[in-house]
Amino acid sequence: MSDILAHVEAGVLTLTFNRLDKKNSITAAMYSALGDALATAKDDDEVRAVVFQGHELIFSAGNDLGDFISNPPAGPDSPVWRFLHGISSFPKPVVAAVCGAAVGIGTTLLLHCDLVYAGDNAKFSLPFVNLGLCPEAASSLLLPRLIGHPRAAEALLLGEPFGAEQALEWGLVNRILPPGEVNGFAQAQARKLADKPRASLVETKRFMKAGQAEAVSARMAEEGALFARLLGEPAAREAFTAFMAKRKPDFSKL
Ligand code: COA
Repeated sequence: MSDILAHVEAGVLTLTFNRLDKKNSITAAMYSALGDALATAKDDDEVRAVVFQGHELIFSAGNDLGDFISNPPAGPDSPVWRFLHGISSFPKPVVAAVCGAAVGIGTTLLLHCDLVYAGDNAKFSLPFVNLGLCPEAASSLLLPRLIGHPRAAEALLLGEPFGAEQALEWGLVNRILPPGEVNGFAQAQARKLADKPRASLVETKRFMKAGQAEAVSARMAEEGALFARLLGEPAAREAFTAFMAKRKPDFSKL
């Protein structure tokens, strides 16, 4: 079965992370599938809203660390950056259903969603610095704007995880639900959106995003270039090797 499931029903494209044995970590092939699905959905009149979801125990462990080392993103057309550009500029409403861990891009992609529903077991984390990397998805711009610099510093500099209640208080999520109800609730909200007049939805979303669209795109490109460079440097190699070997990384000489 595919690692990304795509299904259109009642005007809603549902994209499901389906790689549970690897905690829904995302490979280049999965980013390609997501990027392709968004590119098609953008111009498909049958699709009026999109839902991202995982499993009720795990949303996504973020980038597949092994795949990132063996298959690093090479430029703006690489699968991960194409996906991020696709979601950040997607014109129709995007809803996310998040349960369990949402690591790295599992959290940063939420900054580009319009509605986010979380299970009470959701745990968000942005461990880029701990991996010798830098933020992506314009999270270095969007997160401080959303929650303020000191809180963003705990999340991005210390890499401290935070739970559903914190995310709700900070405005990263709309509502907390029991994990078994999250995907269904997100689907119902997306169907409500799909029933609304399309042009009004799309234009309203465009106006809501217009003030920062250029800055987001520019920051994403800057972060992407640095991220790709850092992936090849010793700190990231040590962090990734340590994760695979299930040991603590040693940055004492870096
Ligand atoms: N990339 C590649 N493989 C990953 C992965 C990732 N990001 N996250 C988990 N996996 C794999 C593990 O290597 C393990 O594989 P194995 O069974 O072959 O040993 C399997 O998924 C289960 O992971 P495990 O760590 O045992 O599960 P857990 O329930 O104890 O912890 C997480 C879940 C998500 C908290 C933990 O896996 C984690 O922290 N992952 C790394 C997250 C990360 O740093 N992402 C990158 C962000 S840029």
